[in-house]
Amino acid sequence: MIIGFIGFGNVSQNLVKLINSKDISFITSFDERSSKTVENIKNSNIEVLDTFKDVALKSDILISANSPKSALNIAQKYGGFVDGIYLDLNNISPDTTLEINKHVKSLVDGAIIGKIDSVNPILYISGEKANELLFLNEFIETHKISDDVGDVAILKLLRSSYTKTLSALLIESTQIAEKYNLEDEFFDILSLTEGENFREKSISRINNTLNSSKRKAEELEEIINYFEDNDLTMIIAALKKLSQ
Ligand SMILES: NC(=O)c1ccc[n+]([C@@H]2O[C@H](COP(=O)([O-])OP(=O)(O)OC[C@H]3O[C@@H](n4cnc5c(N)ncnc54)[C@H](OP(=O)(O)O)[C@@H]3O)[C@@H](O)[C@H]2O)c1
Repeated sequence: MIIGFIGFGNVSQNLVKLINSKDISFITSFDERSSKTVENIKNSNIEVLDTFKDVALKSDILISANSPKSALNIAQKYGGFVDGIYLDLNNISPDTTLEINKHVKSLVDGAIIGKIDSVNPILYISGEKANELLFLNEFIETHKISDDVGDVAILKLLRSSYTKTLSALLIESTQIAEKYNLEDEFFDILSLTEGENFREKSISRINNTLNSSKRKAEELEEIINYFEDNDLTMIIAALKKLSQ
């Protein structure tokens, strides 16, 4: 079986590490990619084809893991060349997922919950062909939600709005605590109710958010567009914070 990638950042690199089987090989392309991505691909030691069209044509499963902004464009460009399953792992809105479905023969809507490089990331999938990906459970805990493309996208948005808004609040509170020279004490008293490793988890969450604030802000914009009929006061404030 051949698994192809469009996008070779954190998600794809870690999937290659996790899906460790002599029966599965991986392909991608350097086509117009940054030096960082080229380096990631070289380090993963996987096969490199000339173009992403070649990758799409040759893949039994094509994984799209690039960015929320490029996901639809990539599906429009390459989705039609995939005979097997097109697994979209981007944090996109359910509307975008349904739009992608128009350009792809067999779409499975996917979400990695928890950081991909955490000890136990979990993959949630939905779509009529999702059953065909349950073999991945051997390598990464995998759950099928339903036959409906879009269900995982809704769950993903809800989770994402919660965690990113919380991260923005954490960044703000920590900055204030630092200003008063009370950072250690701030984490100490929060750990009393939030759990022992709260400080470590928070610092990791803050760094992660600050290191990819542009992508996280894009994701919040998608959430705001999709849930626009709801009260989004907190999420809009988080977007403002992450855009600063
Ligand atoms: N990180 C996580 O734990 C996690 C969890 C769940 C979902 N996701 C979602 O999964 C996706 C990938 O996340 P990530 O953490 O792997 O991102 P990342 O580390 O920023 O990597 C993004 C990759 O996509 C490539 N890319 C961007 N636009 C492209 C295009 N038009 N054509 C081909 N490749 C393109 C980038 O290449 P260049 O460097 O050349 O631009 C890079 O290799 C995102 O949509 C994210 O929301 C991430």
